[in-house]
Amino acid sequence: MEQTFVMIKPDGVQRQLIGRIINRFESKGLKVVGLKMLVVSQAQAESLYAVHKKKSFYAGLMKFVMSGPVVTMVIEGISAVNICRKLLGATFGPDAEPGTIRGDFGASISFNLIHASDSLEAARKEMAIFFKKTELVSYYLDTHKWVYHPTEEKEIEK
Ligand code: CMP
Repeated sequence: MEQTFVMIKPDGVQRQLIGRIINRFESKGLKVVGLKMLVVSQAQAESLYAVHKKKSFYAGLMKFVMSGPVVTMVIEGISAVNICRKLLGATFGPDAEPGTIRGDFGASISFNLIHASDSLEAARKEMAIFFKKTELVSYYLDTHKWVYHPTEEKEIEK
């Protein structure tokens, strides 16, 4: 079972979209196993966006992500990394398809509401920036027997 890192950015919190955004993941059948509201520190932002350090938008991105509270999550499910990226939609609001989070709620390039890890490797690194292992909760969701077919059980146990 995969785990991935998702963060509702300061614009998503200020626009009071927390509930509606988390609902997208839950409605898909994914499980929230970690949840925290915080203001991103300089060290956390540098670590999260290290790959963008040389980009022209880096300074603005750093300022934006630290500009107010965010909601960080660890989301679990079969193919969680890929599914979460699809639920987010294209990076920039104007390009994002209706039906996706960015497509339905955002029209901006810089304020794109939400972040999700783009690979399993990134997910492991990003989860570790914001969550201790002990802050992730392992629990059984009764609905999972209706979200996943019994033949998928081996994948669920992983
Ligand atoms: P995110 O999914 O958090 O990953 C990196 C972020 O960089 C991305 O969302 C955008 O917020 C930001 N970003 C990427 N490209 C640009 C750009 N050309 N201009 C401004 N911000 C960008």
